[in-house]
Amino acid sequence: MQIECTNGSFRDLDVQAIAIAVFKDEKADNGFLKDLDAITGGVIKSVIDSEELQGKEAETVYLHLVGNSGIKAQRLFLVGVGERAEYTTAQASQMAGTAVRALRGKNVKSIAMIPRLEGNSEEIASVVVEGAFMALFDPDKYRTEDKEAREISKLIVVVDGADQNDLERGAKRGRIIGESVNFTRDLANEPGAYMTPTNMAERARDVATEFGLSIDVLDEARMEQEGMGSLLSVSHGSDEPAKLIILKYTPANTGDENGDLLAFVGKGITFDSGGISLKPGENMELMKYDMTGGATVMGAMRAIAQIKPSIPVLGVVPCSENLPSGKATKPGDVVRAMTGKTIEVINTDAEGRLILADAIAYAKKLGATKIVDIATLTGAVSIALGDVNTAVIGTDQELIGEIVAAGKEAGERFWQLPLDKEYSKQIKSDIADIKNVGGRKAGTITAAAFLKEFADGVSWAHLDIAGTAWGDEAKPYRAKGPTGVAVRTFIRIVARASRNKDS
Ligand code: BES
Ligand code: MN
Ligand code: ZN
Repeated sequence: MQIECTNGSFRDLDVQAIAIAVFKDEKADNGFLKDLDAITGGVIKSVIDSEELQGKEAETVYLHLVGNSGIKAQRLFLVGVGERAEYTTAQASQMAGTAVRALRGKNVKSIAMIPRLEGNSEEIASVVVEGAFMALFDPDKYRTEDKEAREISKLIVVVDGADQNDLERGAKRGRIIGESVNFTRDLANEPGAYMTPTNMAERARDVATEFGLSIDVLDEARMEQEGMGSLLSVSHGSDEPAKLIILKYTPANTGDENGDLLAFVGKGITFDSGGISLKPGENMELMKYDMTGGATVMGAMRAIAQIKPSIPVLGVVPCSENLPSGKATKPGDVVRAMTGKTIEVINTDAEGRLILADAIAYAKKLGATKIVDIATLTGAVSIALGDVNTAVIGTDQELIGEIVAAGKEAGERFWQLPLDKEYSKQIKSDIADIKNVGGRKAGTITAAAFLKEFADGVSWAHLDIAGTAWGDEAKPYRAKGPTGVAVRTFIRIVARASRNKDS
C-alpha cells in the first residue's frame, strides 16, 4: 500500500473513495460537513437528517455520488467516531481501520482519509496509517480458498493546514508501527509445529539482520553454563531445544554509557500443553499463541530499530515448548534458577513464570535497570479483566504510570492490580525457597509475586496479556485472532523516554 499525505483540499484527489469521520449528533448545517454537503449535492444533510447516521462510534454509511458532485472521488464512506470531546488518537486510528477494512470489502483500491483530528500533525498521520495497516491484516495465510485477495493500493491522509513534512514523517512512522504490529500477529498466529523455539530464533535473526539490531541466541548448553535450571526444566519434556533470544538496539553516539537500560522480556512458549499437568483438550489449539509476549518484544524491537530513538533497548525472549514426555519435569520436582533460588514445581502448567525467572535474571546480568515483562501468563486475568484491559503489576509506580499513559495514547488499556507483600505468602514452599503456583486465589497476582522474586534491585513491571492477546471476535477495524496488543505501547514507552532524554 502506497501512502501519501496532503494538507490541501480533498476535492481533486485522484482516489475512488473518501472516508470521513463524523462526530456524534453532528449536523450538516455548519463547519466541515456544511462545506462537504454543498459540494456533494446535499447528500450529507440527507443522510444525517434521516438519522441513518448519528455519529455513534463505528456507525458507517457508504454512498455513491452521482450527478452534480464537486469532488473527483465517486464514493464516500462516513464513519461515526462518537463524541467530539472524546475523540483522540486512539479513536482516529480505529476510524481509519474501520474505513479501510470496509472499503477493501467493497473492492475500493484507493482511499483518501479525513480523520478530522486536531493536534500534532505527525501524530495524526502516524495513528491513521498504523490503524490502516493493522486493519488490513488477516490471519488467513494457510487458506487456499476464500482468501482475502483484494488490496488497497493507495491511501492518502488528508489533514487540512498541516505541515507537509510533519505529515510525511508521521506516515512513515505509522507504516513502521503498523507493519511491526502485524509482524507480531503473524508470529502469534503460526501453528506450534512450525513456530518452534528454533524458528522464533531464526525470525529474530532475520529482524536483526534486516533492521540492524545486535543478536545473541543462547542454546541449551549455554543456558546450562549460566545455571538456568528454571528455564531448562520447561524444555525437558520436549524434543525441540529451548532458545534464549537477546536483541539489542544501541543508539548511534549516545555519549553516556551510565544511563538506564530498558529491557523488554517476553514469554515465548511456542506451545503450551501444560506438560505433565496436562491441559484439557478444549481450546488447547489456542496455546500456540503462548509465545505472544515474545513476539510482542520482537515486533517492538523491529520498530525501534527503524525509529532509532536515543536510548538503548534490550529485548529478551525465552522460548520453549511445554510438553509431557518421559523426560518431562514432574510436579514435585525442585529446580534451581540462575539466581540460585530453588523452586518447587507444583504444577508444570505454570511454566511461563519458570522461563521468565531466568530471562529476567539474565536481563539484569546484561545490565538492565528497568524491566517490563510481558506474557500470556494466567487464565485468571481473563476472569478479572476480560479482553478489554491488560493487567499491569509491578514494583515501580512511575514505570507503571508510564505504561498506562503510553497505552492511552496508543489506544491500549492497562489496569493495575495490587502486589502487596502478603500475596507472596501464597508461593512459599514447604521444601524449597518458593513454589510455582499460589493456589486458587488471586492467580494473576501470585504469578507476578513469583516474578518479583527475580526482579529485585531493578525497576520492574509485568504485563499479563492472556486475556487481550487474542480476539475471539472480529471488530470493524480488526480481524479476529491475534491482536498484537502492547506492541504500540512498547514503542511509545521508548519514544517517550527518548524525548525526555533529549529535552
Ligand atoms: N499459558 C497459560 C495461560 C493462558 C491461559 C494463556 C489461557 C492464554 C489463555 C499458562 O501457562 C497457564 O497454563 N497458566 C495456568 C497457571 C496455573 C496452573 C497456576 C492457568 O492460568 O491456569
Ligand atoms: Mn501453562
Ligand atoms: Zn503458558
